[in-house]
Amino acid sequence: MKNVGFIGWRGIVGSVLMDRMVEENDFNQIHSIFFSTSQYGNAAPTYGGHKGILQNANDINALTDLDIIISCQGMNYTNHIYHKLRILGWNGYWIDSSSALRMKNDAIIILDPVNQQQIQDGLNKGIKTFVGGNCTVSLMLLSLGGLFVNNLIEWASVATYQAVSGAGSRNIRELLVQMGDLHMQVAKELKDPNSKILDIEKKITNFSRSGRMLTDSFNVPLASSLIPWIDKDLENGQSYEEWKYQTETNKILDTGNNIIPIDALCVRVGALRCHSQAFTLKLKKEISLNEIEQLLISHNEWVKIIPNNYQRTIKELTPSAVNGKLIIPVGRLRKLNMGSKYLSAFTVGDQLLWGAAEPLRRMLNILL
Ligand code: HSE
Repeated sequence: MKNVGFIGWRGIVGSVLMDRMVEENDFNQIHSIFFSTSQYGNAAPTYGGHKGILQNANDINALTDLDIIISCQGMNYTNHIYHKLRILGWNGYWIDSSSALRMKNDAIIILDPVNQQQIQDGLNKGIKTFVGGNCTVSLMLLSLGGLFVNNLIEWASVATYQAVSGAGSRNIRELLVQMGDLHMQVAKELKDPNSKILDIEKKITNFSRSGRMLTDSFNVPLASSLIPWIDKDLENGQSYEEWKYQTETNKILDTGNNIIPIDALCVRVGALRCHSQAFTLKLKKEISLNEIEQLLISHNEWVKIIPNNYQRTIKELTPSAVNGKLIIPVGRLRKLNMGSKYLSAFTVGDQLLWGAAEPLRRMLNILL
């Protein structure tokens, strides 16, 4: 059995990964060793029935004994440890959820329903570093895989509605505290059917501008608002999150010099764990909506077409409907006024499952 080390298994992505691995009995196939940067020496978790002691995640010698390392610990840890291990000659497989190594020439971005061949070719060539893609990119490629892999997209413009889980667990708490605090401001008025709605709105707006809301993580209130900026400022007008779309998509699709132009405007909204994305696509040729739907559903087993009507859309194409599920619904499919090669689409996907943990779990299984 392979020795597989887990780092960052307690965090939000790591916990979802552990749950999925338990569900799929993945622990039965490996000898798992759990690491911690702070609590080594304590009892390790007993996923899959194994008993053991938590190892020190900064102990390079302990790490070099592993065949496979899965890190959900984040970018700083990867930057701190990965190169040291490789310099020491460690030749094991490193599977990472952070973006630290994503664009390295000798790393593959893993999304096997889309780039299984690239992963297999990479393994044959001796590639040892495999990195999960950014959640929005992975969810876009799973939802629209049928159009991307058939080279039917001339360009894509994306508007995102990203959940707080993408920013971390503290941010989820902060949003919920903000929601509760806002409600408390007007709870009395809400019980009175004769209270004036604009007075209620004014109280909420004034409170959200008062500096009295918890904003340690987001810096500004998100509840009753939104934040049209995600991640670092690249100082070219783009955020780092927006930059990832074109770069990562083309790397995953291995488009070489035939880059598909993709750009985005990424927005944080008050959803909990599903990222939503609205696409405007220019297709390379005219294809009927029926053919488009066939291409989409035949690409992978998780994508699900939601008919473009009010009832189905509000019931099946929302973060609340999709939280905790592996399905990738795609809907609002229609040709736009701009012409028959212009398509709109909307997708919702669980940012922690296909957006983060699931590609890592599947890569482990590919290696095994
Ligand atoms: N960058 C994403 C977000 C996290 O902030 O929502 C998923 O990789």
